[in-house]
Parts: sequence; structure tokens; C-alpha cells
Amino acid sequence: MEKSNKLNELKDNYKDCPKCNELCSNRTNIVFGVGDPDKCKVVIIGEAPGMNEDLKNEPFVGRSGQILNSLLADIGLSRDEVYITNTILCRPPDNRNPNSEELQNCRPRLDEHIKLLNPKVVITLGNFSTKYMLNTKDGITSVHGKPVEIEGVKIIPMYHPAVLLYSGNNPEKRKELLDDFIIVKDILNEKREDD
Ligand code: URA
Repeated sequence: MEKSNKLNELKDNYKDCPKCNELCSNRTNIVFGVGDPDKCKVVIIGEAPGMNEDLKNEPFVGRSGQILNSLLADIGLSRDEVYITNTILCRPPDNRNPNSEELQNCRPRLDEHIKLLNPKVVITLGNFSTKYMLNTKDGITSVHGKPVEIEGVKIIPMYHPAVLLYSGNNPEKRKELLDDFIIVKDILNEKREDD
């Protein structure tokens, strides 16, 4: 079966997901993910959908999304060439952090998502997604830009694009973010057996 069919099947399995009571009763949409499964070599994992994402049914469509798009463009990637999803599929009320039960409920979906897409690189955006995916207590400041290989997939922790909003678009901070994205570009240029 083609990747896109398998992905549709996975999406279908979660279209009415009832597992997290509070999230189900507050969500407008289940924000599954966006990208071309047959083309993407990079999977990006954010924290959780926010208000705009919940309304538009697409991850990273707000201001953080614009920053993400511009960093991708700087390394020559468009949004179509990556696949973007989040640790959980539904917006937590008042933009609170996902709790451990919600993360656990959505974990089989995230694992299947990544396995199915079989990317060369997984980017974890921000402390939350990084600590969760790498099962570490180390903060993003010490681990960003350092690839960790798990089951043949390189995971690269990065700052969440929202840090630029909080820093008033500080150019030095942007350079720090971009330097990590450049590592992705270098890895994409390496050959893999199934290339
Ligand atoms: N921040 C995230 O972590 N995910 C989104 O989808 C949007 C903003």
C-alpha cells in the first residue's frame, strides 16, 4: 500500500478519537498533520495545536508557523517538503501544556506516524516535544542542535520558533535557530541506503 493510503488509514483511525475527555469536548478539529508523505524526508514535531491550528485544522499556521516557514525557506525547504505534526492532536484548553495522560493516549499515533513516514530526520521543536521524544530531563538550551539517533532515525532537538516572538525577533536568537536548521540540511545531503 502507498504511504499516502496508509497515512489516510491512520488519520481515519483517529478522526473521532474519544480518548482524552477534556480535549475532545473542547476541540473544533483534530489537527492530524500536514505534508506530502511520499516526498517528506523531515518530520517536525511541535507541542500541541493552538487556537489558530484548531480552527484551521493545520499545525503551525499562526505566528510561530510563519517563523518556522521562514527558517525552512532559509535552508531551501518549503512546507510541502516536510511533514508537521504535534505530540498531541487536539488543542489543550487555554493553551495549557498537554498532561501525561494525554501524551500517553496520543503516543501510539505519533509512533505510527513517524514509522510510516520513515523520515531521515525528526525535528523536535521546543522543550516539551524534545523531553518527550528523547525521554530526557535535559533542557532545550543544552541539547538543541545535537542529533540523537534512535532506531535509525536522527532526532534533532531545536528551540521552538515561539522563542523568537518572546525575544522580540532578536537576530542573534534567530541565527541560533537557523544554525540548527542548517544541521538538518547537512544530514539531508548524506546518503541513506533507501535513498
Ligand atoms: N505550536 C506548536 O507547538 N504546535 C502548533 O501546531 C502550533 C504552535
